[in-house]
Amino acid sequence: MLFPGLAEPYDTTPVLRARLLLQPAQGRSGSKVQQTKVCTMGLFTGRKGLVLGIANERSIAWAITENLHREGAEMGFTHMPDAGDRPKNQNKVAKLVDPIGSKFLLPMDVCNDEHINAVVAKAAETFGRIDFIVHSIAFAPPADLTGPTWACSRNGFKTAMEISAYSLLAVAGAARKQNVLSSDASILTLTYFGGEEVIPGYNLMGICKAALECSVRYLASELGPEGVRVNAISAGPVKTVSAMGVGDFDDMLKLYAGISPMRRNITADEVGRTAMAMLSNLTSGITGEILHVDCGFSVMGAPPADFFTPPAQST
Ligand SMILES: NC(=O)c1ccc[n+]([C@@H]2O[C@H](COP(=O)([O-])OP(=O)(O)OC[C@H]3O[C@@H](n4cnc5c(N)ncnc54)[C@H](O)[C@@H]3O)[C@@H](O)[C@H]2O)c1
Repeated sequence: MLFPGLAEPYDTTPVLRARLLLQPAQGRSGSKVQQTKVCTMGLFTGRKGLVLGIANERSIAWAITENLHREGAEMGFTHMPDAGDRPKNQNKVAKLVDPIGSKFLLPMDVCNDEHINAVVAKAAETFGRIDFIVHSIAFAPPADLTGPTWACSRNGFKTAMEISAYSLLAVAGAARKQNVLSSDASILTLTYFGGEEVIPGYNLMGICKAALECSVRYLASELGPEGVRVNAISAGPVKTVSAMGVGDFDDMLKLYAGISPMRRNITADEVGRTAMAMLSNLTSGITGEILHVDCGFSVMGAPPADFFTPPAQST
């Protein structure tokens, strides 16, 4: 039994609900009555961290944030710096994170070391040590992403690699150098199957994801002795701003729904929930892992028979 004394069976939500039976208290009539107080404690109560990569409410980083918030996490956030006077990017992210008690929101371009260092310094000032970092960032110049990999420009390649792969090393490095990671911290990034196998249309980003996944393994090896875990979630397609720039996204959704063992697409919340688990101590023995949240798409070596001949409709 998980919680001896629980009146009801433990419900399967990830929230840890402990019903504490209080000492007998004075009732209105003066008689002693048993009072039961419901004390809700989340998996992340008292845990603090950074979430990098929210652009809007469709972002995977936002789905992760919602789950972390539900479990009681305290978080600081970043947004893409705004060009000019209008704080468009800042406002979009602030609209989401302010209502959930964001501890800070700073501009950060991962191509700029000063930005990264300032964000980590703010985390140290605000939280002391941090227990998790969500890295949910990728970019490739559209002209280089949409063409074949052999046509990709030298600068496009550098930019895509710097933002989509190097940035994980840079963020983890800044946190390590500023000694801000707690002794059981968890770092999580987002990748895609196109880094393991050829997914036509994913092209340059596939090469970046291969580098990102390899970075996860090296970081896991280097930071593991300090108790810090580093993992990636390889997510199936989710309709976000970034995803719309990769190949024909609607065809991709149909492909996943037709081929995956579960015959459907994943939801952003499924990624958010898994990410929350990977960032929590529920997964304390897992590091250097690329975990697929893709309804099983990545295990299929060929499409199932019903992909070509859908089952006849029953009348
Ligand atoms: N959406 C999908 O289908 C899918 C599937 C698998 C993996 N992913 C990965 O998930 C991550 C998040 O993407 P998303 O789909 O939520 O899209 P998104 O567009 O909502 O998020 C991408 C984020 O990267 C940020 N970013 C881009 N360049 C940056 C820079 N120079 N400095 C700082 N931040 C920068 C953007 O501001 C944005 O917040 C990416 O790594 C993406 O490759 C997405």
